[in-house]
Amino acid sequence: MKICVLPGDGIGPEIMAQALRVLEALRSDGLSFEMETAHLGGCAVDAAGVPLPEATLALAKAADAVLLGAVGGPQWDTLPREKRPERGLLGIRKELNLFANLRPAILYPELANASSLKPELVAGLDIMIVRELTGDIYFGQPRGIEERNGERVGYNTMIYSESEIRRIGKVAFEIAQKRGGKLCSVDKMNVLECTQLWRDVMIDMAADYPDVTLSHMLVDNAAMQLVKNPKQFDVVVTGNMFGDILSDEAAMLTGSIGMLPSASLDANNKGMYEPCHGSAPDIAGKGLANPLATILSVAMMLRYTFSQEAAAQRIESAVKSVLAQGYRTGDIFEAGTRKVGTVEMGDAVIAAL
Ligand code: NAD
Ligand code: IPM
Ligand code: MN
Repeated sequence: MKICVLPGDGIGPEIMAQALRVLEALRSDGLSFEMETAHLGGCAVDAAGVPLPEATLALAKAADAVLLGAVGGPQWDTLPREKRPERGLLGIRKELNLFANLRPAILYPELANASSLKPELVAGLDIMIVRELTGDIYFGQPRGIEERNGERVGYNTMIYSESEIRRIGKVAFEIAQKRGGKLCSVDKMNVLECTQLWRDVMIDMAADYPDVTLSHMLVDNAAMQLVKNPKQFDVVVTGNMFGDILSDEAAMLTGSIGMLPSASLDANNKGMYEPCHGSAPDIAGKGLANPLATILSVAMMLRYTFSQEAAAQRIESAVKSVLAQGYRTGDIFEAGTRKVGTVEMGDAVIAAL
């Protein structure tokens, strides 16, 4: 297994260090892998002048999987857009063709009280958000800020081709087949043509998946339903922009954004694995960040790219066990539990393994 490691910025290196310790601990199970580390994001801007250096891209392309911490931070927010850390992340997703972003929002029973919703609303929550990742308004042309009629205008283009919708639809329908058989497609077809096409294509595809019940929801209602009755959802499929927003919302239902892992896959299950959260500049360098989303991303990597289901489950069981033992970083802390830092949480997961 060839793994390209990109710790990134802010809390990225801190959480990645714990994820790598967990991976190292699995060597004793006979898992063998090679790792190479490179710069992506703000650290790459500082070291090489660009957020996605050629050397990083080459390493990522040569690897079977990429593990990413997080990128970004206020010190890079005033750079020209093409030099910003986030462009490096978008660039690597596009270059590696990672069009399918899986964001599972699962409530660990021990964290029911950390959720911002009442425990009974989230008990047993298990939603898979399938977010399209290389299209939509994130990448559409034309885009820009320019002078028109004596004032500045800013504009972006929301665009999806039928083939882009079909390939993410296929991933989502197949995941729904393996789960509860329910797929909810989220769009804004009452206003946006782009998402009318999205809905039309999803309806067309449904005929090939008679074992999946397809439903549709407008994105504003979906945002509301997620906090009203989140357990109505099994698999959700949506575009890049709506998926970005809804997955952060779903994350909070599970107690903290610090718990949500992700997989970004191409058509051959090569993937990049990263927590859904960002570089958390407000707590960076303090040893406070929750490393569990990144550790759970390692589990997703073992499952989706390397077909090591047993190793993936070992990590997930270890995470359940540390939560049951009461270990909590600040973001999931509540009275009566044991408050720990990033490294101690890593220690606890390794002990549980
Ligand atoms: P954020 O996710 O970094 O932080 C939001 C809040 O959640 C903060 O209060 C933070 O402290 C907390 N938080 C996040 N991860 C945590 C963890 N593991 N443990 C405990 N608390 C955690 O979002 P933001 O503040 O909007 O963005 C900060 C920077 O990160 C920006 O530059 C943004 O572009 C970037 N970003 C990067 C990614 C990525 O690399 N995939 C994702 C989102 C945001
Ligand atoms: C995410 C992030 C990224 C996105 C940013 C940092 C480019 O918010 O991974 O969710 O919007 O996709
Ligand atoms: Mn996001």
